[in-house]
Amino acid sequence: MTTILQITDTHIVGEGRLVSGQLETAGALTRLVDRLKSIRHQIGPVDAVIVSGDLSDDGSKESYARFKALLAPLDLPTFVIPGNHDARDPLRGAFADHLPIAGPLNWVRKIGDVSLVGLDSLVEGHGHGTLSSETLAFLRDALVKADGSAVLLALHHPPFSSGISFMDAIGLTNAQDLRDLVSGYKGELRIVCGHIHSMMVCTFGGHTAISAPSPCSTFAYDNREDSPVGFLTQDDGCLLHRWDAGFQTIRIGPEAGSGPFPF
Ligand SMILES: [Fe+2]
Repeated sequence: MTTILQITDTHIVGEGRLVSGQLETAGALTRLVDRLKSIRHQIGPVDAVIVSGDLSDDGSKESYARFKALLAPLDLPTFVIPGNHDARDPLRGAFADHLPIAGPLNWVRKIGDVSLVGLDSLVEGHGHGTLSSETLAFLRDALVKADGSAVLLALHHPPFSSGISFMDAIGLTNAQDLRDLVSGYKGELRIVCGHIHSMMVCTFGGHTAISAPSPCSTFAYDNREDSPVGFLTQDDGCLLHRWDAGFQTIRIGPEAGSGPFPF
């Protein structure tokens, strides 16, 4: 059994600041970390954490240091990829243990029986995402080397439309390039992403793609073209991905609730 925890879109800022004047994101991440610590004995060993972008809201060095301090109580190997709110070089500097020293922040690690692949879809200064030709070549090579074994592929921008128009306007610009690559992979492959601060599950290139919720906020599922633009304040948890001759994904909500009561 291989277990990988996915946390995304934590939007950490420096001490004393609120995101958009509303969100105390460090408190939200602390609540999630406390919740995860409280159920570690229930969920069993976790092999790694993948943080799928927007660790920071402002890309500052200070925000990355704070993020690392907030996640430290989990005491788990942690791997990151950038989101549109991140800044490539400060992120690279904060996670020099596994991020490349130059170029896009792409990496692959064998975690138990799973090849965990992180892809960089950041276009600095923009909300939308693109997989560069260098990143697509990196993925092509990683899939060849994975050779039909289980692959968990992480990128920040979902390769599917969410139906939330203002988020789809800043989506992945070249999803078809990604589809062309993953559709040829013969093994089990699961795509995990963030960006839309909501859990959605889609078929993509013959595989399953899942977006994870955010610990600090969400967007209303509003399909109208003129849906009000903006986030909702809501702690919304994270995802646990397990591999044991097949993938399973479990959402971990932000609150335990009371009970258990007889049924
Ligand atoms: Fe985000």
